[in-house]
Amino acid sequence: MPPARRPHRLRVAAVRLLTAEATAIHLEVPARLRAAFAFRAGQYVTVVREEDGRQVRRSYSICVPEGSEELVVGVRHLPGGRFSGYVADGLRAGDELDVLPPAGRFGPSIDPSGSRHHACIAAGSGVTPVLSVAATVLEREPRSRCTIVLGNRRTDTVMFLEELADLKDRHPDRLQLVHVLSREAQPVPLLEGRLDPPRVAALLDALLPPEGVDEWYLCGPFGMVADVRALLRERGVDARRIHRELFHADAVPAASPADAQADEGATVTIVLDGRRTTFPVAGGPLLDAVLRNRPDAPYACRGGVCGSCRCRLLEGQVAMERSWALEEDEVDAGVVLACQAHPRSERITLDFDAR
Ligand SMILES: Cc1cc2nc3c(=O)[nH]c(=O)nc-3n(C[C@H](O)[C@H](O)[C@H](O)COP(=O)(O)OP(=O)(O)OC[C@H]3O[C@@H](n4cnc5c(N)ncnc54)[C@H](O)[C@@H]3O)c2cc1C
Ligand code: FES
Repeated sequence: MPPARRPHRLRVAAVRLLTAEATAIHLEVPARLRAAFAFRAGQYVTVVREEDGRQVRRSYSICVPEGSEELVVGVRHLPGGRFSGYVADGLRAGDELDVLPPAGRFGPSIDPSGSRHHACIAAGSGVTPVLSVAATVLEREPRSRCTIVLGNRRTDTVMFLEELADLKDRHPDRLQLVHVLSREAQPVPLLEGRLDPPRVAALLDALLPPEGVDEWYLCGPFGMVADVRALLRERGVDARRIHRELFHADAVPAASPADAQADEGATVTIVLDGRRTTFPVAGGPLLDAVLRNRPDAPYACRGGVCGSCRCRLLEGQVAMERSWALEEDEVDAGVVLACQAHPRSERITLDFDAR
């Protein structure tokens, strides 16, 4: 398997409690793995663990700027969370984690000669990729500026509060940092409450007129990201300028179960690393059958949000339950998420090399 799709054992250099319910994990990348773990702002890494004989994969956005030698991720503790619970219960410096190299397409293409305004709107743990995007842009595009609008419950629940304040101190004129808190009194009423559409609309009017922004980065719960995107589209922002990252598929609307149940048998061929493999599929998401026949195929969330399993449909037809991780023009161009795709023709060919 190529190094980019294989987990590598990394040593935990440090573990820091960020808030009562979130932990930062610093991962050491040895010199021999630097090329494999080089990353772009906004990308994520995926931790792979064996639990009860099954592989559990969980992705975490990298929080540090492009070029950092150490990888840092921030994990919010979830009640009953398999991996976040393990982190909260006792991950220590010196422990080791199996980690897949960086992936994802959320962040900007850096243009050192560019003079752009990058605006990030995030909530809760959605700050993680945004911190990397903002820090990278401010370091590597000296004529660009950045706005971060960040929703949380209270100041003491803000992940990376100090890092955000440091970034603001380093770039006071080029970073606008706006904290919106839902359960803590704020001096300005506009900054008190949830990042719901009326508040975001008022924030755009007061602080962030869309016509002055070049690129938008949205990360948070599905409802917030969908609402803010719709608002920006109403205000005339080009869809190609709105970048979205989601952490969790539960709230993402799926195609009707009846449609998903309409699976029939098919013969599937996949192309991966130049090698073709053909196998029969009885039903269910194509990724399940792909992994039974080619366990080296890429995937992470299995929920249609991370985009790791993207591939190109070369032959046949599929129906996707969710395609949130893809832009409309990608779907039109035949890009498919294998974890969401169900067969709808007798023969299907998926190319994982042309993603
Ligand atoms: C591209 C990408 C980047 C991500 N980056 C981060 C990050 O930077 N920081 C971070 O903390 N997480 C991030 N996540 C989410 C992370 O991968 C895990 O899904 C999350 O930590 C939960 O894993 P778990 O094993 O602890 O919980 P699980 O055992 O999977 O779930 C426990 C319970 O929590 C619910 N749940 C799972 N995930 C969420 C969620 N995100 N929000 C609300 N409820 C949830 C489940 O439905 C279940 O009821 C990212 C996900 C993706 C796809
Ligand atoms: S594995 Fe995450 S989108 Fe398919």
